[in-house]
Amino acid sequence: MKFRTVFICQKCGYEAPKWAGKCPDCGEWNSLVEEVKAQESKKPAARTRSFTQFSSEVIKLAESKAVREERIATHIGEFDRLLGGGLVKGQLTLLAGAPGIGKSTLMLQVAAQLSQTHKVLYISGEESVNQISGRAQRLGVKGDNIFLLCETDIQKIVEQVENMSPEVLILDSIQTVYHPEFTSSAGTVAQVRECTAELVRLCKPKGIITFVLGHVTKDGELAGPKILEHMVDSVLYFDTEKDNVLRLLRPHKNRFGSTGEIGLFKMTGHGLESVDNPSEYFSQSSRDKALKGRAYSLVLEGYRPLLAEVQALVSPTHYPYPRRVATGVDLNRCLVLFAALEKHIGLPLDNKDIYVSLAGGVKLKDPALDLAVCAAVISSCKDIAIPFDHVFMAEVGILGQAAKVPLIDRRLEEAQRLGFTKAFCAPVTKQEKEKLSKLSISEITDLNDLALKLR
Ligand SMILES: Nc1ncnc2c1ncn2[C@@H]1O[C@H](COP(=O)(O)OP(=O)(O)OP(=O)(O)O)[C@@H](O)[C@H]1O
Ligand SMILES: [Mg+2]
Ligand SMILES: [Zn+2]
Repeated sequence: MKFRTVFICQKCGYEAPKWAGKCPDCGEWNSLVEEVKAQESKKPAARTRSFTQFSSEVIKLAESKAVREERIATHIGEFDRLLGGGLVKGQLTLLAGAPGIGKSTLMLQVAAQLSQTHKVLYISGEESVNQISGRAQRLGVKGDNIFLLCETDIQKIVEQVENMSPEVLILDSIQTVYHPEFTSSAGTVAQVRECTAELVRLCKPKGIITFVLGHVTKDGELAGPKILEHMVDSVLYFDTEKDNVLRLLRPHKNRFGSTGEIGLFKMTGHGLESVDNPSEYFSQSSRDKALKGRAYSLVLEGYRPLLAEVQALVSPTHYPYPRRVATGVDLNRCLVLFAALEKHIGLPLDNKDIYVSLAGGVKLKDPALDLAVCAAVISSCKDIAIPFDHVFMAEVGILGQAAKVPLIDRRLEEAQRLGFTKAFCAPVTKQEKEKLSKLSISEITDLNDLALKLR
């Protein structure tokens, strides 16, 4: 077999004959890595296998007896909801996330649940059996039906899987396994692609539910070629807000469910816990009295309305240039809103420092926050306390007008459920407010209107 050297972009998989500082394909700098590649022989090589080996008879779709997919629930509330009700046989899921975020923890918990009815094989290329069993003890996982294997050679993994035929397979992580036919080191594009292809070929026909864990680059993108995301059925990103115990699981791709949902977890000593009432998590100050500079809003994370608490502090400045600080919300968005407040209602902000922050240490981007930011700033600037049971949700344009935000009916219903009594928002239709019995609506058309109604 002849070998030749090629340079492969670690971001997009582009193959170049010569090294270059910048990938000609995706434009990434310093991403080309030297890899040795076997020269393709004229004969069809063993390696030109396809990803999947499904039968290739032609049949009519109407006649194909597609059994209604049975969902296998993990009984981890947030995880099931995210997956559209549970897992499907043969589903290949990629779980990616930053180091230490809790990927292995989540997988062990999922394994524990699935092992009650399924045989689980947990393969780790990162941790020793001792480390895994230590974690299992901490999480209170018994694991009678969970088998551990510490292995990084994909061919040995395939052998083991064929020997013991598990129903659930977990591989931690794709960056640590390698294919011995390839000389490049584990974690490179060629290895990641080939090992995943091997898993797809192995698990799809057998209907094994497979989870593959993956690392992310420092930009938060999946480390490995884009093609990886095409090869699997679902891609889940595990994410956190800085210095927070809250973990967000976001589907990036989901063949058997929606991608609009998110799952919320809390990291505890006993593992990850589903956060069932996230709205309470997002607000900090006790909701029992009126406060100056605090305004609530309901934002959407996926399709789910969540309570957000905006806090603003407006104080006289001691600097030549007033300070503008925003945490959790977009500063540029806030600057636009401050300008609109100055221009349209003449709020004297030019000699004031303004601090805006979102409680709970989360970062949110939702146009509905605009009105809450404006209300909080007016409240702090004019020393008007906002009652604890008032909520604000509308987008505010640069001309000071309020606009309706998407899914307002859901937000209003959630506000009512959370015990708010008055909602300030852009005019809504009759249908959108028909389910509201305890929540009254104060329609806001522009900032002037808001300032008048806050008094
Ligand atoms: N005793 C403990 N009490 C509370 N939380 C803990 C404890 N031990 C570990 N953790 C949490 O678990 C996290 C590590 O979880 P885990 O090993 O599942 O992450 P990971 O995403 O698999 O990391 P890696 O990328 O290193 O594999 C830690 O960052 C910490 O937050
Ligand atoms: Mg891990
Ligand atoms: Zn590239």
